[in-house]
Amino acid sequence: VSERVPFFDPARSYAALRSELRATFDEVMTSGRIMLGPNVRAFERELAEAVGARHAVGVASGTDAIEVALRALELPPGSEVACPNLSPPATATAILRAGHRPVLVDVDEENLSLDPEQAAEAGAAAILAVHLYGRPAAVEALAGLDAVLVEDGAQAHGLEPPGGRIGAHAAVACYSFYPTKNVGAFGDAGAVTTDDPELAARARSLRVYGEEERHRAARIGLNSRLDELQAAFLRVRLERLAPDNARRAEIAALYDDALGRASPPGVHHAYVVRSPERDGLRAFLLDEGIETAIHYPWALSEQAAFADARRVGALAVSERATREVVSLPCNPYVRDDEVSRVAEALRAAAGRFGVR
Ligand SMILES: Cc1ncc(COP(=O)(O)O)c(C=O)c1O
Repeated sequence: VSERVPFFDPARSYAALRSELRATFDEVMTSGRIMLGPNVRAFERELAEAVGARHAVGVASGTDAIEVALRALELPPGSEVACPNLSPPATATAILRAGHRPVLVDVDEENLSLDPEQAAEAGAAAILAVHLYGRPAAVEALAGLDAVLVEDGAQAHGLEPPGGRIGAHAAVACYSFYPTKNVGAFGDAGAVTTDDPELAARARSLRVYGEEERHRAARIGLNSRLDELQAAFLRVRLERLAPDNARRAEIAALYDDALGRASPPGVHHAYVVRSPERDGLRAFLLDEGIETAIHYPWALSEQAAFADARRVGALAVSERATREVVSLPCNPYVRDDEVSRVAEALRAAAGRFGVR
């Protein structure tokens, strides 16, 4: 029996970057500067440069990044924030935690990202656009609406959506560095990016108890510091973003070839196919030793935590997608022999399970 092809194995990225990460660990631990130290500041500078923003503020997770971004915008309490119904629970949770109200909007059939026409219909004060699976959300159309635009690039590090970089059309953008992300930490981490120096200053204050000077809170904040060690690790990972994304694209092209399809453009955070017989497809692949995942098994409209959220329309596209989507192993550390095994299994499965 051959080994399983893991969906994601963080030990592989450690093995690949071991000497650099160990040196980094030693440097931080011996420096005595382990909280909001030089690596957090350097990572913020390097991230800002990499995404073409003037400011980056490191926080403890992607969920916190959304909460901090929304709170730094200082919208009136209880404002409505439109978000895609096909998104992780973090999206609606962060909106609620920021003191606002999520409005669930359907996604477009083609790209599975926020449908601009229905977002317009929502009439919310703000819109949280998610670049799901590393595919560009329709930010140009969304930016034309009468609402504050926030972009979630958690799955899209290195993406250049049409019309400019992530955040080009938005007041603020958010990132997660959860280990599976294109820039992944070895634990939790996140960041907010913006061109607005005052918004950046509010975000910096919000991440440490609302302090503006030490031990003096100007507003009610969080404790959401970016960990110094994770920041140091992230500097190592960020340097590799371009080759890592190139490897993801290479893997996606091989899967595309096996399935005779063309993936939507993007940075291939997830390689997602659809099948009307998703459970059968997953069981077949597992039998071939291939692990898969589902992003996401439930739409936000199907979750108890968001039962009170206002909905726009029937949300049929997103709810159907949750029954059909399946994500295949696609990260820089999937080996060539494993990519070939997945591609071969996809060739065998394509017709049988109506994969598209
Ligand atoms: C699109 C999106 N937004 C937000 C989050 C939340 O990030 P975190 O898990 O770092 O809190 C995630 C990832 O989990 C995500 O994929």
